[in-house]
Amino acid sequence: MITLRNVSKTYYPKGRRRAGADSDPAAVVALSNVDLHVPQGSIHGVIGLSGAGKSTLIRCVNLLERPSGGSVCVDGQEMTRLSAAALNQARHRIGMIFQHFNLLTTRNVFDNVALPLELMGMKRAAIRERVLPLLELVGLDDKAHQYPAKLSGGQKQRVAIARALASEPKVLLCDEATSALDPQTTGSILALLRDINQRLGLTILLITHEMEVVKSICHRVSLISDGELVEEAEVGDFFTAPRTRLGREFLNDFLQLEPPKALIERLEETPGARTHPVVRLAFSGDAVATPLISRLARECGVDVSILQAKVESIQERTLGLMIAELLGPADKTRQAIDYLESHDLHVEVLGHVQRDD
Ligand SMILES: Nc1ncnc2c1ncn2[C@@H]1O[C@H](COP(=O)(O)OP(=O)(O)OP(=O)(O)O)[C@@H](O)[C@H]1O
Ligand SMILES: [Mg+2]
Repeated sequence: MITLRNVSKTYYPKGRRRAGADSDPAAVVALSNVDLHVPQGSIHGVIGLSGAGKSTLIRCVNLLERPSGGSVCVDGQEMTRLSAAALNQARHRIGMIFQHFNLLTTRNVFDNVALPLELMGMKRAAIRERVLPLLELVGLDDKAHQYPAKLSGGQKQRVAIARALASEPKVLLCDEATSALDPQTTGSILALLRDINQRLGLTILLITHEMEVVKSICHRVSLISDGELVEEAEVGDFFTAPRTRLGREFLNDFLQLEPPKALIERLEETPGARTHPVVRLAFSGDAVATPLISRLARECGVDVSILQAKVESIQERTLGLMIAELLGPADKTRQAIDYLESHDLHVEVLGHVQRDD
């Protein structure tokens, strides 16, 4: 439904677009060579730190920002080649919601949702027929005549969602849609987005800096860093075993699962003659960790000292995580890691510590 190929975006200071632009030290490369494919009906998250290029990326999809290079295809249409009028038409098929809702304060709830339809020239009766069910869908049918100032943040975002859906889009773009909301309201907005995705088959591309958002509703996730997509994975896989350092940092921050500080200070990168490994184990619900760990002692002669453990639900999957020291001679601990990996546990060696004995 959405395909970006080799998309780049450089911001130039005003009026300095042309002569020597490429070497202009004031130019900001916000996106470079971004490839992204979001299939119809899926929810795709893009996560990254502040300034990574998330908003630029999502705004390139509906051409609120025109890419400096590359191709943007939405629902089979190459967006970068459309005339102004055709682009306007194409944008009816792409709804968007924002962190700060962007409602018109002088219009009540009904009229905010009706606005895009008025701009499309729809008749008042037809507008009513479209808007009322949308207000019901977002749970605001009793608030049609309220003004935004009287609404909570969550209710404002519901209005914004109804407005984004008014033109019956195929794609919904969400730019940090829950970042201004408290955790509980965030949960209810995410549940609404999931419901819309399932009921209407709407394709959703959302950007966020919160792992919780990715965990709750996304099917796949991309990680953006300095304008480049550095990792892409199915959400369960990303939470089990992120492939990049930045991915691991996001995950560790989210899970708050780190070895104790005193141990981190003692961690060495390379194993020595008298060291043992500290590992992070991740396993999905099917791999049962506890018998495996007692078998490690029996079959590999390695004792496991569990430092931290956690169970997370990632959509339908249960994910177990553990930080542990493997105690035993080097050849045995190596064998133990092989054994765990052969039983579908993901093992990451965080470092090595000197044995106390
Ligand atoms: N209109 C603009 N003109 C010049 N530079 C810009 C413009 N918009 C964004 N940038 C720069 O492009 C880079 C990416 O910005 P962007 O807003 O896409 O990041 P972001 O990931 O959305 O950040 P945040 O999480 O803070 O919203 C940043 O260095 C930013 O300063
Ligand atoms: Mg942003």
